[in-house]
Amino acid sequence: MPTLAIDGGEKAVTLNMGEPWPRAGEEEIEAVVAALRKSREDWEYLCSARGGGPTAEMEQRWAEFMGARFCMATNSGGAALHIAVMAAGVQAGDEVIVSPYTWGQTVSCILQQCAIPVFADIDPETYTLDPADVERKITPYTKAIVVVHIYGHPADMDGILAVARKHGLKVIEDCAQATGAIYKGRRVGTLGDFGCFSIGDGKQISAGEGGCLLTNDEDLFEEALMVGQHPMRQGWQVKSEERRRWMDSLIYTYRIHPLSAVMIMQQLPHLDEWNAQRRQNHGMLTEGLKDIPGIKGVKVAEGCEHVYHQYSPTFVPEEVEGVSREVYVKALAAEGVPISLGYVRTPIYLRPRFQHRNYFYGKELPWSLSQRPIEYKEGDCPVAEHRCARVELGSGGGPRWLGDQSALVRQILNAFEKVTGQIERLRELTRHEASENVMRHA
Ligand SMILES: Cc1ncc(COP(=O)(O)O)c(C=O)c1O
Repeated sequence: MPTLAIDGGEKAVTLNMGEPWPRAGEEEIEAVVAALRKSREDWEYLCSARGGGPTAEMEQRWAEFMGARFCMATNSGGAALHIAVMAAGVQAGDEVIVSPYTWGQTVSCILQQCAIPVFADIDPETYTLDPADVERKITPYTKAIVVVHIYGHPADMDGILAVARKHGLKVIEDCAQATGAIYKGRRVGTLGDFGCFSIGDGKQISAGEGGCLLTNDEDLFEEALMVGQHPMRQGWQVKSEERRRWMDSLIYTYRIHPLSAVMIMQQLPHLDEWNAQRRQNHGMLTEGLKDIPGIKGVKVAEGCEHVYHQYSPTFVPEEVEGVSREVYVKALAAEGVPISLGYVRTPIYLRPRFQHRNYFYGKELPWSLSQRPIEYKEGDCPVAEHRCARVELGSGGGPRWLGDQSALVRQILNAFEKVTGQIERLRELTRHEASENVMRHA
C-alpha cells in the first residue's frame, strides 16, 4: 500500500492545476491598444459619462447574447446588484428575501439600500433558494427576492417566479458566478426582473473589474439609469418626462471602465465554448467521484447547465465512519488534490455583522428601520447551517479548467482512491486529532 503523502509519501497529483485565470489573450491586448489609439482622434470614444463607444456596443452585444432587451454596464457585480435593488423600488425598512448560502454581496446590496435581509433556506442538492421556504418567509413588508445562482448552478427559477408572482414581488437574479448558465433553455439573468453579472477576477468572463445588469422592462431600465449613470447619459436615454425632472448629479458612480467593455467584447464570443470545457472537465470529476466513499460530487438539476465558478461537493460521513471531514480534506490536500472545507463556511446571518447588527452606517441601520422585530439565530435555515458546519467541501478548478484537463482529473481521482483506500489510517488520524483538540482545550 503506498504511503499517504500526509505521512511523508509521494504526492499523487503532480500536474499543475489548470490554465492561469484570468488571462489576457492577444486579441484583447490588441483591442485595448486600438481603442486607446482611436480615442486620440475621437475624444468621446472612451468617455464613460455619455455611455457611448465601446460601452454601448458591449451592452448591445451582451443583451443580444443573453436574450434580454436592455443591458446597463457597471463597474462591478456588486454595483449592478445595488442598482437593481434601488431600481426595483425597495425602500428603507422594506424586507427582501435572500439566500444565506452565498458570497456576502448577494446580501449587502439589500443593506446598502437600508432594507432588511430576511433569509430563506436552500435546497440540499443545488444549494440554491428553496421556493417553499421563500414563501414561508414572506411578510406584509416583503418587496423583493434576491436569488443567487450560486457556484454557477441555476436556481429553481420556475418555483421562485411562481412565488414572486403570487405575492407581487420583484425578483433580482445574482448571476455573478453564473455568466452563461442556462435554465430550461434560457440564460440566467433574463428570467427575473433584473439579472446582475460580475465580470471581475475569477468569473467565467473576466475583464479585471466590471459588471452589468439586464432587464426586459423599459421602465425598470430607465430607473436603473437614473440611479447609476451620469446625467449626460440619462439625457439621451431616459424618455419619461417625470423622471427627467429628477435628473441631477446626485447619483452613484457605478459606470464601467470603457476598456473593460473592450475586453468583454473580445471574450463574450468564447463564453459558451469555455463553459463547455469547464463542464466537461468538472463532469469527469463528478463521474469519477461516484465510486469514492465519503464524497458526493456536484449534482446538476434537470434542464440546467452549470458553469462552475466553484465546484462544491458534499462530504458523506456515513460512508467513512470514524473519519472527520477535516482529516479527509487534509489527507487529500497533502496528495495535491485541490480541496478545502468549502466556500461559504458560515451562513451570512450567523456572521458578526448580523449577530451584532453592525453594518457601516452605525445607529443599527438598517435594522432600526424594520417594521417588526427581526432576529437572526441558529436554526433559521437548517439546511444551509448543516451544509456549512458539517458537509460542505470545495474542489475542482473553477474557471481555470479550460481545455482538456482529463489527465489532471485522472490524477485527482487516483489520489481519492489512494486516500480512501486507507480508511483505517484516516480513522487513526481522526482519533489523534480529536485527542489533541481535547488536550488543547483542557
Ligand atoms: C455571488 C456573488 N455576488 C456578487 C458578487 C460581487 O461581484 P463584484 O466582485 O464584481 O462586485 C460576487 C463576487 O464574487 C459574487 O460571487
